Amino acid sequence: MRSSRMVGVCIALPGILVAALTFAWIARAQQSSSRQDAVAMFARIATVLQSPRCLNCHTVTDFPRQGDDRHAHIFAISRGPDDRGWPTGRCTSCHGEANNDVTGIPGRPDWHLAPLSMGWEGLSQPQLCRRLLDPGANGHRTPQQIAEHIAGDRQFVAWAWSPGRNPAGLERSVPPIPHDAFARLVEQWVAAGAPCPH
Ligand code: HEC
Ligand code: HEC
Repeated sequence: MRSSRMVGVCIALPGILVAALTFAWIARAQQSSSRQDAVAMFARIATVLQSPRCLNCHTVTDFPRQGDDRHAHIFAISRGPDDRGWPTGRCTSCHGEANNDVTGIPGRPDWHLAPLSMGWEGLSQPQLCRRLLDPGANGHRTPQQIAEHIAGDRQFVAWAWSPGRNPAGLERSVPPIPHDAFARLVEQWVAAGAPCPH
């Protein structure tokens, strides 16, 4: 009786062990593949962050940029001490509260540059990701607050998808992913732990 139970245990044990190991292996594989999925999400997010409509304000220079070729802003405009230009060339002396399709000057209330710490030009994707998530650089935002800003900021983020016409009368191009799809993508990436590529 006793020895037959032992035999039973001896037969069952390797089976249980194999099953447990298999489950652990699958769980791990799933975890690492969902991390890879989330890292791949960031690669798509970066295509928007690095599109000219965002980068022209998120510069690492002393001045804003213009156009899809991101040339330096005409009239030698510079950021000044408060990202709103010098007294001789305040952003709002030309930029109104809405796009002006006659002059080709884009507009939103209190038009101004993103602070230097939020500059994204010339960064690799890992650097961009870390800069975006760094509370010391991003205005003390949590990843969730970044996602909320991207979904809800009507002032500037939304402008990038309705940027109006340039002085030549041509519609400015928009970022490569529609705004709502982009906002959902950022939300999913944050929900997955906001992993950065290496
Ligand atoms: C007209 C200039 C302007 C444009 C265009 C613009 N931004 Fe910004 N952005 C700002 C300013 C100014 C801030 C700082 C706001 C604050 O901290 O209150 C900011 C802050 C942010 C932040 C939060 C801070 C950070 O570093 O994460 C995110 C995210 C952001 N912008 C995303 C975008 C994206 C995405 C686009 C393009 C689709 C874009 N912005 C286009 C001016 C701009
Ligand atoms: C003397 C008028 C004037 C002043 C002052 C001025 N701008 Fe402009 N800005 C323009 C004109 C005109 C355009 C359109 C140029 C174009 O699209 O080719 C423009 C376009 C831009 C764009 C381009 C958007 C894009 O994606 O192509 C940005 C960004 C910008 N200005 C930021 C600023 C900021 C920030 C300030 C203040 C530091 C400022 N401007 C001050 C006249 C001005």
